[in-house]
Amino acid sequence: MAIDQTQQQDGGDVATAQETLSVTDNRTGRSYEMPITDGTVKAMDFRQIKVSEDDFGLMTYDPAFTNTAACRSDITYIDGDAGILEHRGYSIERLCENATYLEVAYLLIHGKLPDRNELETWVHEITIHTYVHENIKRFMEGFRYDAHPMGMLLATVGAMSTFYPGAKNIKDHDERHMAAVRMIAKMPTLAAFAYRHNMGLPYIYPDNDLSYPANFLSMLFKMTEIKYEPDPRLTRALDTLFILHADHEQNCSTSAVRGIGSSQVDPYSAVAGGVGALYGPLHGGANEAVLKMLDRIERVDAIPDFLEGVKAGNERLMGFGHRVYKNYDPRARIIKKNVDEVLEVTGKSPKLEIAVELEKRALDDDYFTSRKLYPNVDFYSGLIYEALKIPTGMFTVIFAIPRTSGWIAQWLEMVDDDEQKIARPRQIYTGERELEYVPLERR
Ligand code: CMC
Repeated sequence: MAIDQTQQQDGGDVATAQETLSVTDNRTGRSYEMPITDGTVKAMDFRQIKVSEDDFGLMTYDPAFTNTAACRSDITYIDGDAGILEHRGYSIERLCENATYLEVAYLLIHGKLPDRNELETWVHEITIHTYVHENIKRFMEGFRYDAHPMGMLLATVGAMSTFYPGAKNIKDHDERHMAAVRMIAKMPTLAAFAYRHNMGLPYIYPDNDLSYPANFLSMLFKMTEIKYEPDPRLTRALDTLFILHADHEQNCSTSAVRGIGSSQVDPYSAVAGGVGALYGPLHGGANEAVLKMLDRIERVDAIPDFLEGVKAGNERLMGFGHRVYKNYDPRARIIKKNVDEVLEVTGKSPKLEIAVELEKRALDDDYFTSRKLYPNVDFYSGLIYEALKIPTGMFTVIFAIPRTSGWIAQWLEMVDDDEQKIARPRQIYTGERELEYVPLERR
């Protein structure tokens, strides 16, 4: 609503203690009043602010969406300053202490914790869908021997949409449910096949007698034994890692899934986009980058020089910093405890000593504290994977397994949200206009 500025100043009544924002456009002297809802103003309300009738109207500029809410969501709550992470209202600490990953996946997708029957049915459904079509296996066999497993996963999740064309019916509840079950169930199988492919080993089919994390370890490591039985401490550690990675509200890959899904494409294609976004070193690829960084540092006494290089801007301290957490990432705290438990089983890692010292020195350094850079989830997760003898190329693939439940929960929420439309940001055009075309021979 546009108001005359003098009227606003004289009248006074417009700016009473209401949930509104008053904006004065100094180009025209006109004032506008916009509603504030949930501490937010609508970007479209600015469009009414024009210098003339044929003006397009004011836009907001927010590269990387650092201050723009793109949806309403009741899935995951983060208070980055306080270091709080909750799913559907339950703290990550309580979930890690008490729940299994599949229980958390149910919570994310269905919005509530399952009762005993619901959990049994859910676990059964996931378990009986762990096998993949033999042609999916053959598709994966077609990759080069040294193909990055994340590239293999990305392509294969996309390819799954061709095996389940019914998933295109995104308004059909049964199709949606089956897509959710199939993706959560098959992701460990695809991940393990990608690993076995890299190692030149035969692919191992799922063992449906085992739990979700134990079956994954079996598909990774089973050799000649009749039945692979992982150490329960390792199974539990992996399940905790799965819980910690299940969802993280509107991060880069989830925004990719929502953005792609907003075109109403099938969920396999949307999730394939999420896998692509997760691959990057600033997102899920950071766990791989942390291990490479620790390898390069090599010795504790090389840490000061390394940190000087980071402070000089030569590189980043991988596993540190977060767009949302300006405090210790609560997931990193839990993982740190897990590292000790895993190393009890697998034996010491010299890299842990480097990581602990690196963290200590960074947290004592004004460069990091003044920028609120603290360890994030990826700082220690790689050490667990390494202790489990999982090669670095697989780290982000393992992140993708549990994040699938978060991607699907967010996709389902988006599909049912009447306020959502196809994602289509605006731009500020900075190029030339109306140039004369110059024929090739005159250029
Ligand atoms: N090492 C050194 N300096 C850093 C780091 C870092 N890891 N992260 C941020 N900074 C500095 C940055 O140079 C900037 O300094 P200045 O103000 O002097 O220019 C300041 O801190 C703010 O950084 P920013 O790039 O504006 O912060 P952002 O919110 O855009 O970036 C981030 C967040 C996670 C991409 C970034 O902290 C980073 O690159 N961290 C390393 C990669 C990493 O560990 N990623 C995993 C994220 S958690 C898991 C996930 O969500 O996938």
